[in-house]
Amino acid sequence: MNEEIRDGLRRVIWEPSAKTGGKLDEWSATEILHTTQSVISQLICRLVVGRTFSRNLEFTQKVADFSYSVIIWSIILDWIPDFLRPWIAWLLPIEKTKSKISDYLCGEILRCLSSPLASTETSAILHQLVHLSRAENGNSFYSVDETIKCVTTQFLSITFGAIDPTTVAVSQVVLDLLSQPSSKYLVALQEEATTVLARHGGNWSLEAVKELKLMDSFIRESQRLHPIGITLAARKVIHKGGWTFENGDHAPAGSLISVPTYAIHHDKALYSDPEQFEGFRFVEDDKLKTTGDAFLAFGYGRHAW
Ligand code: HEM
Repeated sequence: MNEEIRDGLRRVIWEPSAKTGGKLDEWSATEILHTTQSVISQLICRLVVGRTFSRNLEFTQKVADFSYSVIIWSIILDWIPDFLRPWIAWLLPIEKTKSKISDYLCGEILRCLSSPLASTETSAILHQLVHLSRAENGNSFYSVDETIKCVTTQFLSITFGAIDPTTVAVSQVVLDLLSQPSSKYLVALQEEATTVLARHGGNWSLEAVKELKLMDSFIRESQRLHPIGITLAARKVIHKGGWTFENGDHAPAGSLISVPTYAIHHDKALYSDPEQFEGFRFVEDDKLKTTGDAFLAFGYGRHAW
């Protein structure tokens, strides 16, 4: 992953800058959301479908575009009457992008189907997706075409859930870092990273990352003040009788419910001086937990742990 991040930053920041005469040791301007999205897309593709795909910039960009257009089109479709949506959905560019991504993946999916073991270049996740999708059709196997369709959909569901929230969260961390005096945080975070890396023989591993207490706190503070949504973890009540909460509040069927993340993260009763950015306020909490009643950046409940 470390290699992928370095390569991504080189491709997205340094190479375009070098083409216009920029030098490695000089500052160059970059647009944060777009840069982060490109690197994160590469990273997630490496994780889910392997190195061959993560190094294909056209592929990783298509995957990132897919996630972005799903969000934009879902907002637009919300304004369109229910009965028209399935028809309009077919006309959207999303289907075209999906079919292009499927074309990219099909060779690798066929290879996975013909081999029970993942190759070194193929991600174990893709291998799992192929074999799970094949078996998903009850007792009889899906056809090869159906399997390709199903794996592409599964792949895009993962990348959709992974790329955009991570892009927004990481970009926000960079913006928070830049908006604070460097003597307050940047120097301490760099020192911590250098010390931990040296302690782990120059290699980032899960164990090494767990030792980045200042970094963890800084990221959490950034997510506390600027979560990816003002409300998160939206749910629709589908039970015909509605849903009654423990305190007696009743939500009728069809109600939309979500967690007021922003309000909770800014609650004086939960955080002292909640409007203030205190990058190291979570340092004492060494459990490195990602979720809880007072910290809802990843939603709440079993799947958010
Ligand atoms: C900083 C980065 C991230 C943030 C802030 C974030 C935040 C969230 C939030 C708020 C939800 C909704 C939870 C709910 O509805 O209860 C969610 C769901 C989900 N996220 Fe993330 N996420 C991040 C990164 C990722 C990554 C990297 C992956 C995958 C590799 C991922 C996969 C998912 C999935 C699969 C769901 C749906 C879970 C379900 O409905 O059961 N997320 N995420």
